[in-house]
Amino acid sequence: MRVLSGVQPSGALHIGNYLAAIKQWIPLQEKHECLFFIVDLHAVTVPYKPQDLRQNVWNAALDYLALGLDPAKSTIFIQSHVHQHAELAWLLETITPLGELERMTQFKEKSKHRQKANVGLGLFAYPALMAADILLYKTELMPVGEDQLQHVELARTLARKFNHLFGRTFPEPKSQVAKIGARIMSLADPTKKMSKSLGPAHFLAIFEPEEDIRQKIKSAVTDSGKEIVYDVKKKPAISNLLTIYSLCADKPISEIEKQYQGKGYAGFKSDLAEVVIETFRPFRRKREELLQNITEVRNILSRGAETARSIAEKTMKEVKEKMGLL
Ligand code: ADP
Ligand code: TRP
Repeated sequence: MRVLSGVQPSGALHIGNYLAAIKQWIPLQEKHECLFFIVDLHAVTVPYKPQDLRQNVWNAALDYLALGLDPAKSTIFIQSHVHQHAELAWLLETITPLGELERMTQFKEKSKHRQKANVGLGLFAYPALMAADILLYKTELMPVGEDQLQHVELARTLARKFNHLFGRTFPEPKSQVAKIGARIMSLADPTKKMSKSLGPAHFLAIFEPEEDIRQKIKSAVTDSGKEIVYDVKKKPAISNLLTIYSLCADKPISEIEKQYQGKGYAGFKSDLAEVVIETFRPFRRKREELLQNITEVRNILSRGAETARSIAEKTMKEVKEKMGLL
C-alpha cells in the first residue's frame, strides 16, 4: 500500500504533530511504501518571513529524521522540490467545486480575523493542493490528525470526479487517525487545537529546551476543582494533560487517574513534564548527531525528491493524456 503524509514548516513541530501524526508514521514504514514530505507550498498560504521558512523547513527535516523516519525505508522530501505538486493542483482546481472549498473549517479559521483583501487565493485553494499531493502518488493511506479529515474527504471526492470525467486513474485514498490523541489541545486554551500558529504558550515544541517544557507545563491552564479525572466536558484542560501523559508514558488513562487519586494538580504537572522530557530524550540525542552531519541530511532530501519526481512524472503523463493535454 502507498502511504503519504506531511507537516507544514510553519514553526517548530509540536507534540500534537508527533502524538497524532508522526508517531503513527514510524511503524507504517515497516510494511508499506511510504512517502513523507515537508509541505512548504502549504506554509506560504499565510503571511510569513522567507528567512523563517527556510529555517523551519530545515528544522522539520531534522525533526523527521530524529523522530525515526528512516530514509532507507521511506522517501523523505520537500514538497516544492517536486514541481508536479503545483502542476497537478492547477489541473484539479479546474474540477474543484467552490462550495466545497467554502465549507472548509481550516479556511474559515485562518481567514476569519483578516480582511478579504488580505486573504490569498492560495489559502482558499489549499485543500486542492493537498488533494494534488495525495493523488500525485496515487496514495492509498494518509495517517493524519483529526483536523485534516475534511481535506482528505475532498481528495476522495476529486479522485472520484476525475475518474468519472476522464477515466479511471486514481484510487480513493483513505485516512488513518490515531484512536487516542487525534486532537491534542492547546496548553493555554484547551478549547483550541494545539497549533504552531497560536503562539508559544499554546504548544510544546518537541525539541524545545527541557527547562521551557517544565515551565510551560507548570503554567498550563487547569480546570476548577482538584480531582485528576478524564472528563472532556467538565475538565477539558486536565483531560488534555491526561491524554498527553497517557500517550507519552504508554499507560492507560484510567491507570494514571488511579495513580493521582487524592493528589493535587501541581505534582501531576511536574511529573507530566518529566514524562514528556523522558519520551523525547532519545530523539534529542539523535537530532544532535544529525546536526553534525548536515551533508548527509541534504543528500537524503535530494535522493527523496528524485524518487518522488520519478513517480510524479508518470502520474502527470497519464493525467495530461487523459485530460487531452498530451
Ligand atoms: P499545525 O496545525 O500545528 O500547523 P499541521 O497543520 O502542519 O500543524 O499538521 C501536521 C499534522 O499534525 C497533521 O496530520 C495534523 O492533523 C496533525 N496535527 C496538528 N495539530 C494537531 C493537534 N493539535 N492534535 C492532533 N493532531 C494535530
Ligand atoms: N494540510 C496538512 C496539514 O496541515 C498537511 C498536508 C499537506 C498533508 N498535504 C498532505 C497531509 C497530504 C497528508 C497528505 O496538516
